[in-house]
Amino acid sequence: MKKLNIVLFGPPGAGKGTQSTFLIEHYGLVHLSTGDLLRAEIKEETELGLQAKELMDVGQLVPDAVVIGMIRNKIEANLDAKGFIFDGFPRTKAQAEALDAMLNEKLEPIVAMLALEVPEEELVKRLLGRGATSGRADDQDEAVIRNRIREYESKTAPLKDYYGAQGKYKAVEGVGTIAEITARLVKAIG
Ligand code: AP5
Ligand code: MG
Repeated sequence: MKKLNIVLFGPPGAGKGTQSTFLIEHYGLVHLSTGDLLRAEIKEETELGLQAKELMDVGQLVPDAVVIGMIRNKIEANLDAKGFIFDGFPRTKAQAEALDAMLNEKLEPIVAMLALEVPEEELVKRLLGRGATSGRADDQDEAVIRNRIREYESKTAPLKDYYGAQGKYKAVEGVGTIAEITARLVKAIG
């Protein structure tokens, strides 16, 4: 059966993690979030986690080689999955090229890059709101949140053109109820 490999894309706070929960259930996919994988390393106080924490706490991207290595391990451990949802990865052109190479070698290509679109002020509101309870260091300070959004705009948003050139980029309105947005994503997957 054909695998369903999807990139769920969007700025910090767009709802990638929230929507992944519903999509993995709906389609029976494996969820791969580099942010979640990095936070697990931090929790275990690994060398990788300690190095990543310094960058994450100020809202900067961690090096490409680190996240590419983590994704490679997870793909190799789940080769029989029905498909993957990539959440928060790829975030740079180098990551997107590495992902394409890995999928070409072992699995099947990305079918769609679904980009959740949410205005900046709504993103800041959501993340400050979560910061009150999440314990995520990068949600506590508005300046760090805005820095994450600047990193997204300069390094990550250009990937819309990368996937657009492959005919895979689909913009999805990311404001509304969680269920409304899930329905839009399912429709976009087709
Ligand atoms: P990562 O963990 O990926 O965080 P992020 O992209 O900054 O985004 P979030 O996870 O905060 O947002 P989300 O889109 O998942 O939204 P969520 O569903 O949680 O990355 C963290 C850091 O790790 C990066 O800054 C970087 O340092 C590093 N990193 C990770 N991946 C990397 C990579 N590939 N390369 C290099 N560095 C990397 O929702 C947010 C909030 O909004 C929640 O409170 C939620 O309840 C709420 N919400 C969701 N949907 C709605 C809705 N429809 N209406 C109202 N509220 C909503
Ligand atoms: Mg997330």
